[in-house]
Amino acid sequence: MAVNGASTVPTLRSYAGKIVTIERFILDQQQSYPDATGALTSILYDICLAAKIIASKTTRAGLADILGSAGKENVQGETVQKLDEYADQIIFKLNDHTGRLAVMASEEHEGIIPIPAHFPVGPYVLLYDPLDGSSNIDVNVSIGTIFAIYRRKTVEGRGTLEDCLQKGGDIVAAGYVIYGSSTMLVYSTGQGVHGFTLDPTIGEFFLSHPNIRIPDKPKFYSVNQGYEQFWSEGVKRYTEWLQGKDKTAKPLSLRYIGSLVADFHRNLLTGGVYYYPADSKDPDQSTGKLRLVYECAPMAFLAEQAGGAASTGTERILDLQPSALHQRVPIFVGNTGLVEKAQEFIKELD
Ligand code: AHG
Ligand code: MN
Ligand code: MN
Repeated sequence: MAVNGASTVPTLRSYAGKIVTIERFILDQQQSYPDATGALTSILYDICLAAKIIASKTTRAGLADILGSAGKENVQGETVQKLDEYADQIIFKLNDHTGRLAVMASEEHEGIIPIPAHFPVGPYVLLYDPLDGSSNIDVNVSIGTIFAIYRRKTVEGRGTLEDCLQKGGDIVAAGYVIYGSSTMLVYSTGQGVHGFTLDPTIGEFFLSHPNIRIPDKPKFYSVNQGYEQFWSEGVKRYTEWLQGKDKTAKPLSLRYIGSLVADFHRNLLTGGVYYYPADSKDPDQSTGKLRLVYECAPMAFLAEQAGGAASTGTERILDLQPSALHQRVPIFVGNTGLVEKAQEFIKELD
């Protein structure tokens, strides 16, 4: 079964040797849609701004013990917010009053996040994981933010849960921010995947990685192999295949950070596969750990736009109709050949 349903990527104008800010780039892309109102462009700007504000906070996270750690009081006697909650609030506050969104949803909220009654609503829906890989904050390892934007499905009034539960295949734009050795924003509006690096001294994102394509020759596989004993036979044998144990393929190196954004980003640039399969260690994780709506679907969209693929092991992620906001699904994402191979092993052995 083909797992990459992406249409061909339109030719990108040449940015070689040019200094291009993210603002200029988004505006250039908008021009290929004569009917565009600019609302989507503005949502993307607001996400850039949120990224800069969150980045300025994450780089100071190590000072929490000195200035006051999360949930405790800082030296001024103020309660310090957890970074996930801070990131969640920043994204919400930048988007609640603009009249561009009908509704939002975030990993940090059990239900949908309505637009406050005193603000107007608009045609789009924003879903986000404000801080991904947050267990890595205290050990100074890369973390991220993930987002997906859809058109609303309901026709009037405030947005509803139905607007938030759409197939990944209907994503209008998706991306992530990685807070690493530099802060990068990587996004796609369905015209390829483009990466921008923040110059923190002037607070501007510059185009650094135009038209990212996953390299044909993969280097890495990324999985929490500590849970191998809980995997199905198909997933175990697939992993052995990635390790080259059956001598039909060259062994790949293992890299696993434990932040989806950072693991995905590395594999996007170097080639490889990330997977978080279903496992039997915890009844609640019989479907894997990662959440469909704000983790798997946006990453699947980016992977396909970069020439790769994403599957649950049996189905294309972008074809899944979500049934709940925090629904979890198994995921295999990266080079198309590696994702198809996972499907083969799972079909044959599970
Ligand atoms: P979050 O911090 O948003 O809850 O996401 C954590 C996720 C993801 O980033 C990562 O790939 C995965 O959890 C790691 O899980 P394990 O520790 O089980 O490997
Ligand atoms: Mn996450
Ligand atoms: Mn999170």
